[in-house]
Order: sequence, then C-alpha cells, then structure tokens
Amino acid sequence: MYTLAHLSDPHVSPLPRPRAAELAGKRVTGYLSWTFRRNAIHGGPVLDSLSADLQETAPDHIVVTGDIINISLPDEYTQAQTWLRGLGPPDRVTAIPGNHDAYVPMDWQNSIGLWADYMTGAPPGDAAQERPVRSDDDFPFVRVRGPLALVGVSTACPMPPFSAAGRIGERQLGELQRRLQDLGRDGMFRVVLIHHPPFDGPAQRRKGLHDSAAFRAVVAEAGAELVLHGHTHRSGLAKLPTPDGFAPVIGVPSASAKYAHDGRGHGQYHLYRIARDGNGWRIDVEVRGVVPTLDSFVREGQFSLAIPQ
Ligand SMILES: [Fe+2]
Repeated sequence: MYTLAHLSDPHVSPLPRPRAAELAGKRVTGYLSWTFRRNAIHGGPVLDSLSADLQETAPDHIVVTGDIINISLPDEYTQAQTWLRGLGPPDRVTAIPGNHDAYVPMDWQNSIGLWADYMTGAPPGDAAQERPVRSDDDFPFVRVRGPLALVGVSTACPMPPFSAAGRIGERQLGELQRRLQDLGRDGMFRVVLIHHPPFDGPAQRRKGLHDSAAFRAVVAEAGAELVLHGHTHRSGLAKLPTPDGFAPVIGVPSASAKYAHDGRGHGQYHLYRIARDGNGWRIDVEVRGVVPTLDSFVREGQFSLAIPQ
C-alpha cells in the first residue's frame, strides 16, 4: 500500500508588493484580479491548516499540480520555495508548474528553477540518477517512488493577457509517449501530473489545454494508470482510454480556497491509497476538505477505483 496526497492551485499568499515596473503588461490585470477578487478567496489560513492535516495523515508522498503562485513576481518564487520546504523535503514532494507560475516570461534560474529540487527526474532505466530539471526542455520528468512512477508534465508557458491556456508541445509529447511506454513495460503504476485538464471545453482557446487531443492520443497509445490535474478549482472525475482499458483523470479544487464560489470548490485535497489487486491495481480515494472555521481539514468522502493493467 502506497499513500499519495494530491493538492493543487495553492496560489500562495500574501502577494508581495509589486514595484511599478513589475506591473507592466499582463501582470497588471492579474494584480487587480488578486486585489479585488482572488485575495478574498485564497488569502488566508487554509494552507496552514492543510500542512497541519498532512502531518496527521502522513502520506508517503505529496504532489502539487501547479499554480503555486499568482502573477510570477520575482519574490513570489522565493515565497513559494519556502512554502514547499514547509510541505516536506524535496524527495517526498513533487511539484509541476501551472499557468500562474509562468504568467510572464521569466529567467528560469530565478523563477521555476528555484523549485527544481521538487522537479527532479531520472533518465530511462536509471531511477537512482535523479537531477533537477534545468529548463522547459527537461519536461516531462520521471521520479520513481515505491511502485509509482510520477511523470511531471509542464503545460506552463506565457500566454497573452486574459489567457489562462496551456500547451505541452510536440517535443514533450513525444518524450511523454516514450517514457510512458517504457514505464508500462516495467509494470509501474504511472501517475501523470498535468496542470490543465486534458479535455476540450467551451473556452478552450482562452483557458484550456491547446494540445489536449494530442495528450489523449499519447495516453491511448502508451497508457497510464492515473492522471491528476488542477486548474479548474473544481473536483473532477473522468476517464481516458488506454491500451489496458482506461485511466481515471481526477481534478481537485484549489487547496487554499476558503469557501465554494461560482461553481468552484472549497479547499480540498485527495489521499490515494494504492495497492496491487490481482492483475491490476486498486485505488482508495479519500477526499479531505477544510471546515468552515478554516482551522482544520476533515474527511468529506471516499470512493474506490479498480485499474486494469
Ligand atoms: Fe491554472
């Protein structure tokens, strides 16, 4: 039995005070959105309660599927690095970036590179040789933990103002297919981490994953056992066809949301208990959510899934 916690879209706050020059371009709209709307939802004590709950539930590993920060201010990356350190050591926590983590073009070393020890990957067939990703070109990364292969995909690339869309890109899709095929042959439980849900929606161009069809084609061809995403700030349960049957695709609301609003959920995270079951796998999923007083998390639901292999 291996226990994996999934949380997403923490949007770590308080937002550092930006300098005037830093608000040029896309950041100004994001800053206004944070000040007048998002701060009321995400700015608060929920992440502290979440950390305390994770101490209690003590999962073997924690994954964070992006939107760690808000408008990609330089100081937000160091603030989020401190938050990640508080969540756990890099070998027990895996992160991938979301669209808010690449809000505007940034120098890698002083932005997502500061979190790269939570994004280490090993080359094929050599799980012990993990090293931090050094640029967008090092995605997807693969970390092996117990029976799990955590496959971190990046959909984060700077987009025009008012766009929250994402893109994987052809190079990364090709590499993803090769890695999933290899890991499948090795009998690993493949967990694909991706910020944007891999589906098409009505606002696809503006906030969806532009190459979601290509991603689905990779999973249909190479297979996966579980796909975890964030971005929508809603709970989601869907499935994608694989050579062995299907892979569940599960989304979780923002970890820091104080209350449900506009169809989006209050702060939740998922605990996955994963075990071999005959020729396949069994996943028991526990949903944990923040209470109205915001000072603790409780079990809100559970369900089980049987995954063929
Ligand atoms: Fe997002």
